[in-house]
Amino acid sequence: LTTMVKICCIGAGYVGGPTMAVIALKCPSINVAVVDISVPRITAWNSETLPIYEPGLDEVVKKCRGKNLFFSNEVEKNVAEADIVFVSVNTPTKTSGLGAGKAADLTYWESAARMIADVSKSSKIVVEKSTVPVKTAEAIEKILTHNNKGIEFQILSNPEFLAEGTAITDLFNPDRVLIGGREETPGGLKAIQTLKDVYAHWVPEERILCTNLWSAELSKLAANAFLAQRISSVNSMSALCEATGANVSQVSYAVGKDSRIGPKFLNASVGFGGSCFQKDILNLVYICECNGLPEVANYWKQVIKINDYQKVRFVNRLVTSMFNTISGKKIAILGFSFKKDTGDTRETPAIDVCRGLLSDRAQLIIYDPKVPKAQMMKDLSTPKFEWDQPGSTVPVAEDSITKNVTVVHSAYEATKDSHAICILTEWDEFKSLDYQKIYDNMPKPAYVFDGRNVVDVTKLRQIGFIVYSIGKPLDPWLKDMAAIA
Ligand code: NAI
Repeated sequence: LTTMVKICCIGAGYVGGPTMAVIALKCPSINVAVVDISVPRITAWNSETLPIYEPGLDEVVKKCRGKNLFFSNEVEKNVAEADIVFVSVNTPTKTSGLGAGKAADLTYWESAARMIADVSKSSKIVVEKSTVPVKTAEAIEKILTHNNKGIEFQILSNPEFLAEGTAITDLFNPDRVLIGGREETPGGLKAIQTLKDVYAHWVPEERILCTNLWSAELSKLAANAFLAQRISSVNSMSALCEATGANVSQVSYAVGKDSRIGPKFLNASVGFGGSCFQKDILNLVYICECNGLPEVANYWKQVIKINDYQKVRFVNRLVTSMFNTISGKKIAILGFSFKKDTGDTRETPAIDVCRGLLSDRAQLIIYDPKVPKAQMMKDLSTPKFEWDQPGSTVPVAEDSITKNVTVVHSAYEATKDSHAICILTEWDEFKSLDYQKIYDNMPKPAYVFDGRNVVDVTKLRQIGFIVYSIGKPLDPWLKDMAAIA
């Protein structure tokens, strides 16, 4: 009887939870422990209501939990027993000190690495799952080997490419799995092969790419930068479309038909969000600056600048269209999460848009099918971190948020008596709302500002709405209003 391979993952978040659940499902011969310092998170993973919403996740967890998948707060014990330790802790942007606003904050990472060194009594493969700056593996290797002489640590970089909202299908059927390691040493090669064997349980071999450590680390940053750049590119076109009368959907369809470009990830919107794109690009920018490449750094910075511009542009369009004042007007916000099928609100454009509207003294009635009220309130009242000028924050009047924000349980409730509707997340249910009924319950003129290309513009105009849809030809009304402003 061979002993079971033991995997431990530090960090039971959006990445650690789903990835480990899928490994447990696909590899019944492997024992998987997911550990976290957060007690509420682990309690939730062990309960009926998981801490994150992801289509298909519940099923996978229910099939394996208690068999070969365990969630625990006993971090040290589980790490000590494991053969392979994944580190999937958060790596936010530094908010103070050297590199503030750009560099990755590796506090959590370093403390995890020191803990691994402290508790290990047998050789281990340590896998970077978190997105980290290039050359982090080298630093981690130093921490591990200098603190625990005599034990062999092999470090691998295995960045995660799953997208929230489709995490389970992405993990079942990944475009590629990337494993970076010390290809130049026998120990390194053996470690790469061990991790490859885990994924080979369900991923076709030709999709498992093996590289050196730095290539793997940089590939993750580069992939996110390229993805975000596509969105900023089409968003920059959306502004030009509005100014000229072109239709951005037609433009991106035509552009995407070029097989060299491809059709995916070309939807114009109010902007990208999520915990990764901005953070990873800022990180890339910082690395370029540190390596004496300011031109390269500025090139990537522009991707974030366009994203910020797009949110400001959306708010300005709304205000100018409504006679240049939204003071005291009710505005329905449909959708708050950064994209559909997730309850995650990290860096969601809804935060900046809502704050923009609140600073013009609107009253917001927000509905999102998955985001709890407490999360929205927290997001809206946390001072925005200005990546461009670290240290400066936009002031928020606490009481203006509690007084002027209402959270409701349906789109109909949110839109009733509202002067305008803002669609900020592309939840499927917003496509099939009874817009005639909604229109009848709103004061006139009734506006829809669609930040996600969700609604049928022609149909809504027939009902009587004044419709703004990003990058689409403007209503004569919107043109007139823009001219007056
Ligand atoms: P998260 O914030 O949801 O989860 C991180 C978890 O680590 C938290 O529950 C925290 O309590 C725990 N933790 C922190 N320090 C710890 C320690 N010393 N010991 C034990 N637990 C500790 O973060 P998320 O979204 O899972 O991201 C993790 C990493 O994966 C980040 O580097 C991110 O850039 C990367 N990533 C995220 C993706 C996403 O879609 N969210 C996709 C691909 C990569």
